[in-house]
Amino acid sequence: MSPGAVLEVHGVSKDFGALQALSDVSFAVRPGEVFSIIGPNGAGKSTLFNVIAGLHAPSRGRVVFRGEETTGLPPERVNRRGLAKTFQITNLFPEISVYENVRVAAQSRAGISGRVASLWRLPDVDPEVMDLLRAFDLQARRDELAENLSHGEQRYLEICLALATRPTLLLLDEPTAGMTPGETQAATALIRSIAADRGLTLLLIEHDMSVVMGISDRVAVLHFGEKIAEGTPDEIRRDPAVIDAYLGGADD
Ligand SMILES: Nc1ncnc2c1ncn2[C@@H]1O[C@H](COP(=O)(O)OP(=O)(O)OP(=O)(O)O)[C@@H](O)[C@H]1O
Ligand SMILES: [Mg+2]
Repeated sequence: MSPGAVLEVHGVSKDFGALQALSDVSFAVRPGEVFSIIGPNGAGKSTLFNVIAGLHAPSRGRVVFRGEETTGLPPERVNRRGLAKTFQITNLFPEISVYENVRVAAQSRAGISGRVASLWRLPDVDPEVMDLLRAFDLQARRDELAENLSHGEQRYLEICLALATRPTLLLLDEPTAGMTPGETQAATALIRSIAADRGLTLLLIEHDMSVVMGISDRVAVLHFGEKIAEGTPDEIRRDPAVIDAYLGGADD
């Protein structure tokens, strides 16, 4: 379908009993781009991420990541191939320090995961951990317990953990949820610049329209589990089906 794509989603459907949460969804994500999925509550966005990351097997359809089929692989295997998703694969350990959280996530690359990982010390991860903490301005908080961070800092730490696995593709499910407008602006700029620096491809779910339109190269719109549009932010803004379904006639 799409030669050179990092991620290809082919005709993916997901049923939960009688509910069709995803219905024949297809799209492809190119290397280095920021691709966003938008849609009203319950449209199937998180379900789509879960299928891509291996947390749900699709009812129908296929997922191809870096040219290889990953449909039905467990999340650890998909992660090992270079796909990271915030908040699911690498969870925050609230009772250990910020620094240790990132170190443990970095070590999961070597197949050491869970609490036992904190007992292991791989050489050479320290500079990398400090680089990540600096990128998110968390270096002064390195010895703080993760549970004592502010909400915004915890969101950043979660992104750090995902990045510590050195992904090719990073899935972020509403990274700015719960942030103030000022924090949202700062977080958006930061995520975009870190992705560009690292040559990362980003797949993003985001509710805040100003964030989506500012950060994305392309956008796909889900509505009741179906993809109703795909295009550049400008194309999406002008698409009558999108305005109808999602923007509800908003001027912007
Ligand atoms: N594990 C599950 N079992 C049953 N139904 C589910 C499950 N996960 C999601 N659903 C249902 O699938 C539909 C899509 O949910 P999903 O969480 O993917 O939507 P979303 O677009 O991420 O919504 P939001 O914007 O509120 O996060 C919803 O009707 C939801 O109730
Ligand atoms: Mg969701």
